[in-house]
Amino acid sequence: MRSSIISAAALLATCTSAAPVVERTADAQANFPGILASYSAGFKNPTIQSSAGGQAICISGFVDITASANNFLLNTEIPANQSAVTQLVTELMQVNSTKSKSLNGGPNHVSGTYSIYSQLCFPQAAGTIDATTLQFLIHGSGLDRSYWNAAPGYSYVDYAAEQGYTTFLYDRLGTGLSDHPDPVQVVQLNLQVVIAHELIQLLRTGGFANQTFKRVVGVGHSYGSAQTASITAQYPKDFDAIVLTGWSADNSGMPVAFAGLDLAIANQVAPRRLAALNNGYLTSAGIEGTQFFFFREPQFDPLLLDLAEATKQTLSLGELLTNIPPKVSTNFTGPIIVVNGENDLPNCAGNCLVPYNKPAAVKAAFYPNASNGSSWYLAPSTGHGLTFHYTADAAYAHIHDFLKKNGF
Ligand SMILES: *[C@@H]1O[C@H](CO)[C@@H](O)[C@H](O)[C@H]1NC(C)=O
Ligand SMILES: *[C@@H]1O[C@H](CO)[C@@H](O)[C@H](O)[C@H]1NC(C)=O
Ligand SMILES: *[C@@H]1O[C@H](CO)[C@@H](O)[C@H](O)[C@H]1NC(C)=O
Ligand SMILES: *[C@@H]1O[C@H](CO)[C@@H](O)[C@H](O)[C@H]1NC(C)=O
Ligand SMILES: *[C@@H]1O[C@H](CO)[C@@H](O)[C@H](O)[C@H]1NC(C)=O
Ligand SMILES: *[C@@H]1O[C@H](CO)[C@@H](O)[C@H](O)[C@H]1NC(C)=O
Repeated sequence: MRSSIISAAALLATCTSAAPVVERTADAQANFPGILASYSAGFKNPTIQSSAGGQAICISGFVDITASANNFLLNTEIPANQSAVTQLVTELMQVNSTKSKSLNGGPNHVSGTYSIYSQLCFPQAAGTIDATTLQFLIHGSGLDRSYWNAAPGYSYVDYAAEQGYTTFLYDRLGTGLSDHPDPVQVVQLNLQVVIAHELIQLLRTGGFANQTFKRVVGVGHSYGSAQTASITAQYPKDFDAIVLTGWSADNSGMPVAFAGLDLAIANQVAPRRLAALNNGYLTSAGIEGTQFFFFREPQFDPLLLDLAEATKQTLSLGELLTNIPPKVSTNFTGPIIVVNGENDLPNCAGNCLVPYNKPAAVKAAFYPNASNGSSWYLAPSTGHGLTFHYTADAAYAHIHDFLKKNGF
């Protein structure tokens, strides 16, 4: 079997093209001829890839998800120009801003069928899927599914596969290869929650790869953690355990983090990749903003910052304006672990231990009935984009210890 391990430098050489760099479909297709036949059920236009470090085999394709949700009616237009975006963010970040509230016109029912790009990755060493436990990965804003599988040595998918776990990852609505509907009225948190719920139901009932996954662990990063916490509040049976990364109840770092991120109209700052997007899809204006929000020197290889910048994705205006804290998940009784970079800027105001232990506080604030097996961990001297740092694998080791201790 050919090794898929390639250097981060080699990755970078190709990473400005639209295709995700770590997914070498042609090689993998030739290497795993039987996989497509056995495991492609549920995917449209299925293909096979190796994960970044070669520890997992991934089946990928599109899935049509029909979903409806109570979004909010936002009384705002698609921004006409960058000046309008900058002014909106300025107003959102001012002291005691009432901007989101003043634009919110109340509940707005949305529904549709959305094409969601999905991947199911299982341990290459086993060569088959074990349906006992699945890890369901939800990426954050400004990223897509490739956050979980960024490069060799920087891949949650690889780490989990090495430990024997199958992972499911997908591009959230409005990112990557998934559909990009109206970024103001449609791409909002509540619809994202229902789409994830529908995917989880399919995974549990044989909708993918002819497997009925018995237990599902929810794993989020940043906005994906907020979404995971919203799922456990609304659908307490969806997950048996949860892993929240890049997240806490402290939002006090958001204004400075967003100031440094410098949100810009994505089709203007990344025209080679994102030209087709509506002006309501936003991303960092440049590499300085990406570093400021996601990275912490000197805990990363500069090539990973270049990779993150070259593959960056978007945040929708609707997600920005409806970023309300999740409800308390009183009915969730499984174990939770919160794992952050110690110096996470947006979600810990740059220090997760000042003035209190922010990851440890998540349980009391959002999961009063979570099991006593719950835990937390801080990756030392690490920023918000945990996967991009040298500390990623050590953090992933803590997560997998937690899962094993709790019987998963
Ligand atoms: C941006 O668009 C707004 C309309 O939304 C217009 O009033 C304003 O003059 C434009 N600004 C620039 C700098 O083009
Ligand atoms: C912001 O709102 C809080 C809560 O309503 C209030 O206590 C505080 O004084 C306000 N801050 C300023 C600067 O007005
Ligand atoms: C799906 O799984 C069931 C039960 O394991 C098996 O009987 C059936 O043959 C499988 N179907 C396909 C198409 O592989
Ligand atoms: C939580 O549990 C209570 C009591 O069993 C039930 O009434 C309520 O509907 C549950 N909430 C959710 C969101 O499932
Ligand atoms: C959760 O805890 C509260 C007390 O904090 C209790 O009243 C409630 O019954 C518990 N719910 C479940 C599902 O354990
Ligand atoms: C968790 O620990 C507390 C304090 O030690 C105890 O009161 C509680 O019953 C324990 N809960 C479970 C589910 O074991």
